[in-house]
Amino acid sequence: MNKRKLIGPFKQIISMAGLSLKGAISDHQLPILEDGGIIVADGKIQTIGNFEALTKKFEGIEIQALKGNHTCMPGLIDSHTHICFGGSRAKDYAMRNAGKSYLDIAKSGGGIWDTVTQTRKATKEELIKRTTKLANRHLKNGVTTIEVKSGYGLSVDEELKMLYAIKETNTVVSADLIPTCLAAHMLPKDYEGSHEDYLLEISEKLFPILKEEDLTNRIDAFVEESAFSAAQIAPYFEKAKAMGFDITVHADQFSTSGSKVAVDFKAISADHLEASTPKEIELLAKSDVIATALPGASLGLGCDFTPARQVLDTGGALAIASDHNPGSAPMGDLLTQASILGTFEKLSNAEVLAGITFRAAAALNLKNKGQLAEGFAADFIGFHTDDYQEILYNQGNLKPCMVWKNGALVFDKHKH
Ligand code: NIG
Ligand code: FE
Repeated sequence: MNKRKLIGPFKQIISMAGLSLKGAISDHQLPILEDGGIIVADGKIQTIGNFEALTKKFEGIEIQALKGNHTCMPGLIDSHTHICFGGSRAKDYAMRNAGKSYLDIAKSGGGIWDTVTQTRKATKEELIKRTTKLANRHLKNGVTTIEVKSGYGLSVDEELKMLYAIKETNTVVSADLIPTCLAAHMLPKDYEGSHEDYLLEISEKLFPILKEEDLTNRIDAFVEESAFSAAQIAPYFEKAKAMGFDITVHADQFSTSGSKVAVDFKAISADHLEASTPKEIELLAKSDVIATALPGASLGLGCDFTPARQVLDTGGALAIASDHNPGSAPMGDLLTQASILGTFEKLSNAEVLAGITFRAAAALNLKNKGQLAEGFAADFIGFHTDDYQEILYNQGNLKPCMVWKNGALVFDKHKH
C-alpha cells in the first residue's frame, strides 16, 4: 500500500463531487477548487483542499510537487467497450462508407460473426496481448477504468477463453478492467438450434462457471431484430437476475424494444439508444437505468447520435462511453467522442464530464469512483492547462499529461 502523500498544486481541481446523478447540469454548478492539492493514502483520497494550507496542516508530509499549470479531474471511466477481439474489420468500414449498411454486411457474413471467427482463431495469449495494448492506450488518454465485454466467442468454451483473457489482462495493466459477459451478442451461425435453445444452454452451462471462477458479475445482451428479441431474452435475464448478476442491455440501436427490457429488468444501464423516440427516453428517465450514449458507434456507422440532450432534459442519467470495438466503433478515443457528442447534442461541459466520470461509474455500479472526494479511489488525471474548459474545447486533442491510479503516478508525459 502506498504511503500518504500530498500531490499538487493544481491550478484547478474539478472534483465532480456533489453533482446530481440525474438530469441537466450547468457549468456554474461545477465544483472548481483553485490552487488545490490532494492527499492520498492507501490508494484512496484522504483530503482535498488548498495546497498551501495542506502543506502547513500536514507538516512533514511527502509531497509530489508539480511544476507549471495543471488542471485535475477524476480518471475517465469508459463503461462500455469490446476491446478483447481478434482481427480487424477495416473492410466492413470501407464497405459501409461505399454505401452498404451495417445490417446488410452482417447478413452477408461480415459484421459481428466475422470478428467471432477471428477471435475464435486467436489464442488466449494473443487476446491478452491485444487487450493489454488497447487498455494501455486508453490509460494514456486518461481512462482509468474500462469495462470490457466478451461476446466474440459465442460458445461456452470460447466465451470462457475471452473472459479469462480479460481477467488476466486486468492483472497486467494499470487501469481497472470491469468484465461483462455478452454471450447473447447474436445467435452463432454454427449453432444447431433456436435462439431460445442457445440462450438456455448459455445460462445453464456458462452462468454457474462465471460465478465459480469469479469471471464477471455482469450480463449483457444485444436486444435487436438481428440478435435477440425482448421475448427471447426475458428468461435469460430472469435467470441472470435470480443468480445475482447485474444486467446491462445493448438497447434501441436500430429498432426500439431494448430500453423497455432494460427498465423491466431493472438493468444498471441501457446503452446505444440511437433509435429511441421520446417514449423510450421518458421511460428510461423515470427509471433508475443509466442511459449510455455511444458516440463512437454513431461516428463509426455514420448514423444519428443518441438523443443525449433529451435524456437530460427529461430528467434521465446520461453516461457516455466509447463502445470501442472492431466493427461499429473502431476509433476508441473516449474524450474526443464525448466532446463531439457535446457539440452536436448541445451538452454543457459539466454534463459531458459527468457522463465520463461519476455517471459512468454509476453505469458500472461502482460506488467509489468518478469523483474526487474523501474515501474515493485516488484515480485522477492532470491536463496541461489552467482552465478546465480547454479540455473539451480541444475536442480530444488535449490529452492528459499525467495519470494517477490508486494514488500512484502511472503515466507521466513529461518523461516520454
Ligand atoms: O455495441 N451492437 C452490437 N454490438 C457492438 C458492435 C459489435 C461489432 O460490430 O463487432 C456495438 O456496436
Ligand atoms: Fe457495444
